Amino acid sequence: MGFKEEIYKRRTFGIISHPDAGKTTLTEKLLLFGGAIQEAGAVKSHKIKKGAASDFMEIERQRGISVSTSVLAFNYKEKKINILDTPGHKDFAEDTFRTLTAVDSVIVVIDVAKGVEEQTEKLVEVCRMREIPIIVFINKLDREGKDAFDLLDELEKKLKFKVCPLSFPIGMGYDFQGIYNIWENNLMLFKEENKQKISKTTNISDLDDSRLTEFIGEIASEKLKEEVNIVREVYPNYNQSEYLNCKQQPVFFGSALNNFGVKELLDCFISIAPSPLPKESNERLIKPEETSFSGFIFKIHANMDPKHRDRLAFIKIVSGIFKRNKPYNHVRINKNFKFSSPNAFFAEKKAIIDQSYPGDIVGVHDSGNFKIGDSFSEGEKINFKGIPNFSPEHFRFINNKDPMKSKQLAKGIDQLMDEGVAQLFILEMNGRKVIGTVGALQFEVIQYRLEHEYGAKCSYENINIFKACWIENQQKSNIEYNEFKKLKNKFLAKDKDQNIVYLADSSFSLEMTKQKFPSLEFHYKSEF
Ligand code: G4P
Repeated sequence: MGFKEEIYKRRTFGIISHPDAGKTTLTEKLLLFGGAIQEAGAVKSHKIKKGAASDFMEIERQRGISVSTSVLAFNYKEKKINILDTPGHKDFAEDTFRTLTAVDSVIVVIDVAKGVEEQTEKLVEVCRMREIPIIVFINKLDREGKDAFDLLDELEKKLKFKVCPLSFPIGMGYDFQGIYNIWENNLMLFKEENKQKISKTTNISDLDDSRLTEFIGEIASEKLKEEVNIVREVYPNYNQSEYLNCKQQPVFFGSALNNFGVKELLDCFISIAPSPLPKESNERLIKPEETSFSGFIFKIHANMDPKHRDRLAFIKIVSGIFKRNKPYNHVRINKNFKFSSPNAFFAEKKAIIDQSYPGDIVGVHDSGNFKIGDSFSEGEKINFKGIPNFSPEHFRFINNKDPMKSKQLAKGIDQLMDEGVAQLFILEMNGRKVIGTVGALQFEVIQYRLEHEYGAKCSYENINIFKACWIENQQKSNIEYNEFKKLKNKFLAKDKDQNIVYLADSSFSLEMTKQKFPSLEFHYKSEF
């Protein structure tokens, strides 16, 4: 197969949802279709157990196995599918944000009863920022839930979607009878056979077919006809370029647990979802078809074995062919690296590969040189965009508890920050270190890992910070900027890239500061 065919057959995407909407279940069913796993439950057992949210030991355990579920790859109908796993736990939202820099499209799972939930809104916001094409899967139709049209409205209002239903449910919960597939014009009936409910596709392609009543009864068939008519009148027709430009979001209904509507979703997905897309760098747009290799690190995973400090860095290939043992330039430190045992990921296992193509993810060993966001190339100076840091939600001073181990502590903190576990801010005033995290859980994880992997002990001290803001001196007015720096000196820090960050102590003081210094922009993320 030629280079271009290899690119065009790849679909690299992420599944996102609010916890419990059914992301894990859907992932598992997709893998079953790809023949990548044989039994249900295989992915499920890797999930952070519910109720274990505060049990970070459980998270430590998960770290070990989550390497193997970071990328789930399988072949389906001549396509190579790469699902990038995104943690559902909100304390790890930043991991998910970063993973979204490496996907070419996304499937959003919505619980039919709960509708659009908080975490979904946040994740979709990130997708919108990156203009990632989105397909929606409304899940759990076997349960009572919200009315389908109300849900479509909710998607439009809360997520600012322009929805295009490509299937429509017939009843719901106890009365759920199946789905009319608008995309393929056929009817799928929901039949309970054995314990698993099985879908049966009928060859009804026209809703005026007299057999419709036979299948679902007169009342349901009248209602379906009416509803599909409304769908056709009210919602736009599917438009490929609008979907690809994030201006239209196709919607499917189904039940992941019952494997109902999943195959239809997958079949449509492989035909409409984009193959690897070009990616912006600071220098220029890089196209996948370019023959010269380039890629970037979107995730770093620490090794579980404390005796080996090795880490696994996940590189998304943007262009060209990645080859084993070929030297590649690490752009930030301008040094060549060769990878003798790059890993490719398959469902549940990884294996050493000789070459990989755009859209694929390779895992390479890192002995502490790499950072999230680093780019590789064959020599060209390329710095890929789009891995910003977001303002953390929680902040604490970090102190050294064992003066004999200050070197170990500094190294540990540095490396954990490179991995993206949390963000470090160093106060301008006195050089004190402040750790910022998305969830409170990370503080425990950091403390535990510093001790077990680096032999260093730390303690935390509360600090009252509301938000971290990256400052942009838009009008380059040095007078105002200098005055700001003087006045807010106590609250200024540098991030890992030496950018100035204002650690506002309350929303009130942030507002006052904004008003006082109108020529400055206050951003909640490091890239703007
Ligand atoms: P998540 O990864 O998005 O957090 O969700 P997950 O797949 O773990 O699903 C959350 C719960 O919803 C699970 O039940 C799962 O079985 C259930 N679920 C998923 N899809 C469907 C569906 O189509 N219909 C119904 N009725 N339930 C569905 P649980 O009881 O919390 O976990 P478990 O005991 O099944 O593991």
